[in-house]
Amino acid sequence: MMERQNVEQLAEWMRESEKTVVLTGAGMSTESGIPDFRSKKGWWKKIDPMSVSTTEALENEYELFHDFYQVRLTDLNACRPHSGHHVLADWEKQGLLSAIVTQNVDGFHHAAGNEKVFELHGSLRSILCSECGRGADEESFLNHKACLSCEGNLRPDIVLFGEMLPQDVWGEAIREIEQSDLLIVIGSSLKVAPANELPFLSTGKKVIINNEETYLHNAFDLHVDGNAGTVLETLQELVKEG
Ligand code: APR
Repeated sequence: MMERQNVEQLAEWMRESEKTVVLTGAGMSTESGIPDFRSKKGWWKKIDPMSVSTTEALENEYELFHDFYQVRLTDLNACRPHSGHHVLADWEKQGLLSAIVTQNVDGFHHAAGNEKVFELHGSLRSILCSECGRGADEESFLNHKACLSCEGNLRPDIVLFGEMLPQDVWGEAIREIEQSDLLIVIGSSLKVAPANELPFLSTGKKVIINNEETYLHNAFDLHVDGNAGTVLETLQELVKEG
């Protein structure tokens, strides 16, 4: 249950902070109706990620790969950012938040209005040819079309297991976090590298907002146990009170 004094402490640290950075995971979007991966209702409880979310699956099991991402993209189009996403967008406008580094591929931070967002794992909303790299629209992917240039298989522009993160985005995310004096992790099990190395690059205060304990909990100065939307709404009130 959310301990009020921990949220109040975080609000105080936010007011004092010169540069706050937020790192989000799939737990930031479950209240929008998008499953996360590793909690009991997560994707990887139903499907082996190695069967659908790898370059191997893309090359050798394209039908399975396509079905999986077609479902995720179709579901995503029926969902919207929740109040917690909008709080983060307000904070950027109010100068309370410098940047968001996200592992999520739903594009919801941009959709809610945040401008400085580093998408470490790419975006489901961007489609390209797996052979020649030519861009394609979402409809073509959803309708199982091939690349218009080379007839190659289309894929979402996300980082699959076994692929490198976009190095420019990774480098900028590291710089932001190294320069921050407050890092707030929201809704991540911190089980996937290299994103789970980022909290250790912060020399400032580290806080985690999560609805379960993670194995890296001891690396944090403060824990807020609760749902992202509820905690962010409460934080918004406390930070406003000043
Ligand atoms: N509020 C707070 N925490 C939540 C909420 C919520 N509403 N919903 C879920 N959580 C927590 C879960 O309990 C879990 O600890 O968020 C965490 C989500 O962890 P994962 O499902 O592992 O998601 P994430 O950490 O983002 O995974 C990282 O793994 O499969 C890859 O590329 C994929 O980007 C993803 C990466």
